[in-house]
Amino acid sequence: MQSPTLKCCFQFVPLIFLLFLLSLNPASSASISICNPDDKNTLISIKHHFNNASVFSTWDRNTDCCTNWSGIECDPQGHVTMLAVGSDDDVIGEIPPSMGNLPYLQFLAFSVFSHLSGPIPPSLSKLTNLQHLDLSLNNLTGSIPDFINQLKKLDDIDLSSNSLTGSIPSSLSKLPKLRTANLGSNKLSGPIPSSLGFIKTLEQLYLYSNSLSGLIPSSFSRLPKLNELDLRQNELTGTIPTSFGSFKNPDLNLDFSFNKLSGPIPNSFGKANITKLDISNNNFTGDASFLFSKEKTVLNSIDISNNLFNFDFSNVDLPMGLKNLDISHNMVFGLLPKRLGQLPLQTLDVSFNQLCGQIPTGRRLKQFSVAKFSNNKCLCGSPLASCN
Ligand SMILES: *[C@@H]1O[C@H](CO)[C@@H](O)[C@H](O)[C@H]1NC(C)=O
Ligand SMILES: *[C@@H]1O[C@H](CO)[C@@H](O)[C@H](O)[C@H]1NC(C)=O
Ligand SMILES: *[C@@H]1O[C@H](CO)[C@@H](O)[C@H](O)[C@H]1NC(C)=O
Ligand SMILES: *[C@@H]1O[C@H](CO)[C@@H](O)[C@H](O)[C@H]1NC(C)=O
Ligand SMILES: *[C@@H]1O[C@H](CO)[C@@H](O)[C@H](O)[C@H]1NC(C)=O
Repeated sequence: MQSPTLKCCFQFVPLIFLLFLLSLNPASSASISICNPDDKNTLISIKHHFNNASVFSTWDRNTDCCTNWSGIECDPQGHVTMLAVGSDDDVIGEIPPSMGNLPYLQFLAFSVFSHLSGPIPPSLSKLTNLQHLDLSLNNLTGSIPDFINQLKKLDDIDLSSNSLTGSIPSSLSKLPKLRTANLGSNKLSGPIPSSLGFIKTLEQLYLYSNSLSGLIPSSFSRLPKLNELDLRQNELTGTIPTSFGSFKNPDLNLDFSFNKLSGPIPNSFGKANITKLDISNNNFTGDASFLFSKEKTVLNSIDISNNLFNFDFSNVDLPMGLKNLDISHNMVFGLLPKRLGQLPLQTLDVSFNQLCGQIPTGRRLKQFSVAKFSNNKCLCGSPLASCN
């Protein structure tokens, strides 16, 4: 004989099965949480550490951290893989050591907190799954910790716009997957470690606006994928390494402006395949005509202004793709090349040199004002006074 209770419950089997299916898809039900409890506790402790600042307002212990908390993403098992929050003036104080207790974290962006101060805590060395580390635009102090080289999966590191001091650890070269490193706008000093030239994966290196000194490492020319090297606004001395003629990368932007570089540029540098070159505001001397040539099909922007270059511009073979040209504030002499009038120029400045003779004609040259040609020895013709 069948019991009535059993009968009743068999009717519910499909419903129970449906609930089971729902539980496999956490987004479909708020009541089911997949958030790993340890990770949730860690995140709550971070929130409390910063006095429940408003950027954490969705971080509610009663909801699922994986589906309901802004800036948080998880893997299917509920481990937190991404923590990305920023822009809140109420986040005051130091990064809590507990941030290192998110063992599955791959993506950490904790940035634009103007009152986030203190050092980068050593506990972050436990985040060995980290691929992306962004602590930019905070107010962090102390040095760039050596332990960062333990984060072997790092692909992208951004520590820019803080107040970090000390030198760049040469052990960064032990990061086998690093593609992008931005250490710009800090107070870093000392030399640029030449070991950075051994990170074969490196594509972008930004070290601008620091107090770095010493030479530009010649080892950078060995980086097969480098496309952006920004060393502007430092205190670098010496000249451009001879080895830099061997760059073959089809899209390379080099910015060495506002340093203390001096002396002649090695002729070999003329062989490099560069798209954009800015060596302005240094003390380079001698010839730079070899930086131009018709064969430089990829060169579209060159700025050699505010140096002590001294060469004849008359026979310079300008590349046909040139869009931005600035040779102002040097001692360049001779004529402006005829081809200047045929280039797709968007910006041009040849002022404050020793140039002479007729300014070439050309529709595109008409857009540039008197100031872009002024203070030369004897340039004439539109937009300056006509030649006699
Ligand atoms: C933050 O929130 C928790 C839980 O709601 C509470 O216990 C704690 O006192 C709060 N802290 C501050 C500084 O408001
Ligand atoms: C949590 O997120 C789910 C899916 O986005 C949503 O349906 C639910 O209303 C949220 N719950 C709370 C308490 O915000
Ligand atoms: C940044 O930190 C320094 C000291 O470390 C402090 O004097 C300064 O006020 C901080 N800036 C902001 C915006 O909090
Ligand atoms: C420079 O790059 C261009 C575009 O990729 C390529 O056609 C050219 O051969 C390269 N030149 C050298 C010297 O490598
Ligand atoms: C260039 O050299 C002059 C004279 O030695 C010096 O006063 C000036 O500061 C130097 N400029 C740069 C950018 O190094």
